[in-house]
Amino acid sequence: MTRRFVLVLPLVAALSVVSAAHLRADSATAPDGKTIFAAKCAACHRADGSGGGPYPPLAANADIGASDTAGLILTVLNGRSGPIQVNGKTYGGAMPAWKDQLSNDEIAAVLTYVRSSWSNHAAAVSADQVAVARNPIASSGGEIYGAKCAACHQANGQGTGAYPPLRGNPHVVGSDPSEMIATIVNGRSGPLAVNGTTYNGRMPTWKGQLSNADIAAVATYVRSAWTNTASGVTEQQVAAAGTPVLSAVGASVYAAKCAACHGASGQGGGRGTFPALAHNTVVNASDAAGMIGVIEHGRSMMPSWKGQLSAADIAAVATFVRSAWGNSAGPVTEQDVGAVK
Ligand code: HEC
Ligand code: HEC
Ligand code: HEC
Repeated sequence: MTRRFVLVLPLVAALSVVSAAHLRADSATAPDGKTIFAAKCAACHRADGSGGGPYPPLAANADIGASDTAGLILTVLNGRSGPIQVNGKTYGGAMPAWKDQLSNDEIAAVLTYVRSSWSNHAAAVSADQVAVARNPIASSGGEIYGAKCAACHQANGQGTGAYPPLRGNPHVVGSDPSEMIATIVNGRSGPLAVNGTTYNGRMPTWKGQLSNADIAAVATYVRSAWTNTASGVTEQQVAAAGTPVLSAVGASVYAAKCAACHGASGQGGGRGTFPALAHNTVVNASDAAGMIGVIEHGRSMMPSWKGQLSAADIAAVATFVRSAWGNSAGPVTEQDVGAVK
């Protein structure tokens, strides 16, 4: 990545200087794909899209007209290098990344231009499509939303008489997402007033059904979809908002997998063979890595749980053990588990 960037930097820098003034003058109106192409792309792909040398053509190139535009968008956002076949010829140069230099609107405009110029006649690319590709967590969130939430809240987020809207809902787009995260994690029922209408249904709990990463993704999606424009939600925020629930999952993992040896109340067992986890210094250490390591890899008669429990389950059971029976150490996230090799 760095090497590629260094190679193209002088060229890109030169092109940017030439084009910056023009782009800035245009920024009040919709960006013009043709102008962007001339400034940023034509040096390699040629003004008529015919390419040449190490640069593939964008005219008369079947990839450009693809109905699924994700690959094209990712190419322009992130760049690409490595063998690519176009019209029977193999190219292997480096296409620079544009994600830090072109906005979603500009990338949509230049790709729309490329897809409708010369001999190309493919559909336009929207800034929304670029936004989704730029932020993969939001795109998996969209899939989760479609599968798990849209039946009640509707695909357009507008809800129904029985289910509150998520689009334009002040609780969803508030600057502090913690209450909304808690609703998704724990569910809720009881009167809920949204924009002057009172709902009184039951939102299911997603604990144990969606991982923290999935909840972060779907929460990010609902905060940024439709007309909503709130910031993303991280896995850490979900872990923080969902600690009691994570522990509830952890408690069931503990009962099923650990209690036989360590005791239902963490008191240990086997006349000292199995250590107590209540008031245990490894368990209560501020850095959970040691404890995670023992759970993942086992030690003498302690089984290894790697491969048997998911990272989410290990995080959940570790969080439970660290907060049960008088223990009072902080929660463990999936990332913490992933970080212990
Ligand atoms: C520094 C030269 C350079 C510049 C500038 C450049 N490209 Fe590229 N582009 C390449 C190369 C080289 C490849 C082939 C990469 C490979 O082999 O993986 C490529 C590939 C592509 C592809 C994929 C073609 C296919 O068949 O899948 C697209 C689309 C594309 N460029 C669009 C653009 C757009 C739009 C711009 C301007 C925003 C741009 N390029 C600017 C060099 C460049
Ligand atoms: C079975 C129907 C149903 C499904 C499926 C469902 N919800 Fe809900 N949701 C509700 C109901 C009903 C409420 C209002 C609960 C109340 O009245 O307390 C609600 C409330 C909410 C709220 C709180 C809104 C506010 O104004 O505070 C959020 C956020 C939310 N849902 C997000 C989601 C997400 C994200 C999913 C998918 C992971 C989802 N919902 C799936 C029925 C559902
Ligand atoms: C078959 C019995 C058995 C099961 C089941 C078991 N453990 Fe253990 N565990 C042990 C033994 C024995 C040790 C002590 C290992 C040693 O250091 O010799 C231990 C050690 C530990 C330690 C380190 C304690 C310390 O003081 O170093 C932790 C934490 C732990 N287990 C957590 C768990 C969790 C969480 C589960 C369930 C996912 C679990 N164990 C399931 C037998 C078991």
